[in-house]
Amino acid sequence: MQKINFIKSKYIFSNKPIKRLNNVKNKTELLKKLKLKIENVENCELKKNAKNLVFSSGDHNSSLMLVGEGPGQREDEMGIPFVGDAGKLLDKMLKAINIDRNKTYVTNVVNYRPPNNRKPNQSEINFYSPFLMEHISIINPKIIILLGSCAMETFFGDKTKISNMRGHWKNIIINNRSYLAMVTFHPAYLLRQADQKKKSWIDLKEIKKKINEFKISI
Ligand code: URA
Repeated sequence: MQKINFIKSKYIFSNKPIKRLNNVKNKTELLKKLKLKIENVENCELKKNAKNLVFSSGDHNSSLMLVGEGPGQREDEMGIPFVGDAGKLLDKMLKAINIDRNKTYVTNVVNYRPPNNRKPNQSEINFYSPFLMEHISIINPKIIILLGSCAMETFFGDKTKISNMRGHWKNIIINNRSYLAMVTFHPAYLLRQADQKKKSWIDLKEIKKKINEFKISI
């Protein structure tokens, strides 16, 4: 016998769209649950040494998501990503292409500060990766910017080189959805290597071009 799925009759003739997975209310709930999951992680040295969980900032409905490495000292103190010197440069970089950072969505590969601002190690990246993938799936952005080598390696492996990868659009697939992503230099690296700002500017212009092409209002 043919199996027929039961559909609630009120939806059949309704002009209202059927509730989709990522509607606004649902997003808030899903983000809350994800944050709670990360708050409750066990056996994590990063969490043991950190003051605060650094989850995200910005507009969760944004089409542009930025992924950094991990919180530094200021971020750890405030529980907000990119509030220190690197964050100030990030603001300027986005402003240079007419983007207000508050209209983007920002998170990191790891959500607790690595001691002495060291780069997260592979096992820490692996531990936090499922949370990051879930985070991206909830936000469902059109464009993802991967800031620095840690974010790059999370998606493309530790054999990749930022000098080769930066500035090129790549597709990353998470939970059967494809996202357009670009790797570019981390602002903290640019603070140390000011001569690389020229390349960063090329990347920023390319990002702006894609935003215009996609007609993303930001
Ligand atoms: N660097 C990062 O990668 N993330 C932050 O939140 C701050 C500095």
